[in-house]
Amino acid sequence: MKWYHLAAFAASSQAALRFGCSTLTIQRLDPLVEPGQTPSAHLHQIIGGNAFHPNMSGDIGEKGTCTTCTFTEDFSNYWTAVMFFKHTNGSYKRVPIMQNTALPNGINGGMTVYYTQQDFNSNGNQKITAFKPGFRMTVGNPTTDSLDKAKGHAGLRFVCLADKGTRFPELPDFPTKPCKGGIMTVHHFPSCWDGKNLDSPDHQSHMYSTTKEAFSPAGPCPASHPVRMPQLAYETLWDTTQFNNMWPKDGSNPFVLSYNDNKGYGTHADYVFGWKGDSLQRAMDNSCMFQACENGKPLKSQNVAAMNKCSVEKMVKEDIDSWLPELPGMKMQ
Ligand SMILES: *[C@@H]1O[C@H](CO)[C@@H](O)[C@H](O)[C@H]1NC(C)=O
Ligand SMILES: *[C@@H]1O[C@H](CO)[C@@H](O)[C@H](O)[C@H]1NC(C)=O
Repeated sequence: MKWYHLAAFAASSQAALRFGCSTLTIQRLDPLVEPGQTPSAHLHQIIGGNAFHPNMSGDIGEKGTCTTCTFTEDFSNYWTAVMFFKHTNGSYKRVPIMQNTALPNGINGGMTVYYTQQDFNSNGNQKITAFKPGFRMTVGNPTTDSLDKAKGHAGLRFVCLADKGTRFPELPDFPTKPCKGGIMTVHHFPSCWDGKNLDSPDHQSHMYSTTKEAFSPAGPCPASHPVRMPQLAYETLWDTTQFNNMWPKDGSNPFVLSYNDNKGYGTHADYVFGWKGDSLQRAMDNSCMFQACENGKPLKSQNVAAMNKCSVEKMVKEDIDSWLPELPGMKMQ
C-alpha cells in the first residue's frame, strides 16, 4: 500500500526499527511454553540468536555468539507456528518462507521484526522502556476457536498478497481463495508492561494490549500496566503460490498451521528478549529509523551472508520437508 512506503521514506527523524532475520531453525521446540520438552507439541520457525535451546533461561543476550538478525547485538529469539499445505489426498507439505520486500536481498526465509514507538509517521512524546534481561511473552493462543475471538485480537492478522508489498486488507483468519503473491502472517505484541514481572504463568498477563489494526498508534497504557515498551511486531511471508494449482475443488482452504488449525484463529507468536546490554534502550532513545539505525548509528549491524551463516543444531530429528502423512507431532486419531 502506498502510505506504507511513503511513511517509510518520508520521516527521517523518527525512531523505529525494522529489520530482517533469516531462519535460525525450524524444529519442534518451544522453550517458553514447553521448556525442556524435546520435541514440543508442534513445529515452529525460530529466528535470532544461537543461545536458543529447549532449556534456555536468564540473560541470553550475554550467551549468544551469533544471530540471524541484522543487528549483531540482538540475540533475542522470535518464533511462530509453521504453515503447511494439505493435499486432498491427505498428505502435508511444508510451505516455504520467503523474505520480505524492502530488505537486502538473499535473506534465507525468516521474518521481518519491528520495534516501533507509535507508528510509521511519528515517535510520539512518550518514553519507551526497553525489555529487561529474562523478559519473555507470547501473543495469541493455539486454542482460540472462533472467528469472533480471532477478530478481537487486533494485532493478529493474515494478508492475501498480490505482491510482497500488499498490506491490506488485514484478515482475522486464512484467506479463502488462492493468493497471487503468497500469504503474510502478522503478529503485533502488547506493549504495556506491569513494570514488575519478566514473565507470568500464562506468559501474557504481565503485559496488556492496546494495539489497534495494522501499525496505527496504540491506545494509552492502563494503570495496571503503566510502562510503555516497544511495539514489537513480526511479519512472515509464506510462498503458497506453488500450491495454488492444487486448491481443492470444493473451495475449502488447504493451508493449515502446524498445530492443525486451518482457520487461523489460533495464530500466535513468542518472544524471548536477548539484546546485549543497553543496546535496545539506546536504539529506542535515538531518532533513527529503519536502515538508518544500522552501521553503528547507533546499532552495530551485519550483512546477509553473516545472518544466514548463524544456526543451531538439529535437536529434534524428524522429517519436516517431505510430503508427510501427518503434521509433525499431530498423530491422527
Ligand atoms: C533440559 O533439562 C532437563 C532437566 O534438567 C534435562 O533432563 C534435559 O535433558 C534438558 N534438555 C536438553 C535438550 O538439554
Ligand atoms: C499426494 O499428492 C502429492 C502431490 O502430487 C504426492 O507427492 C503425494 O505422494 C500424495 N500422497 C498420497 C498419499 O498419495
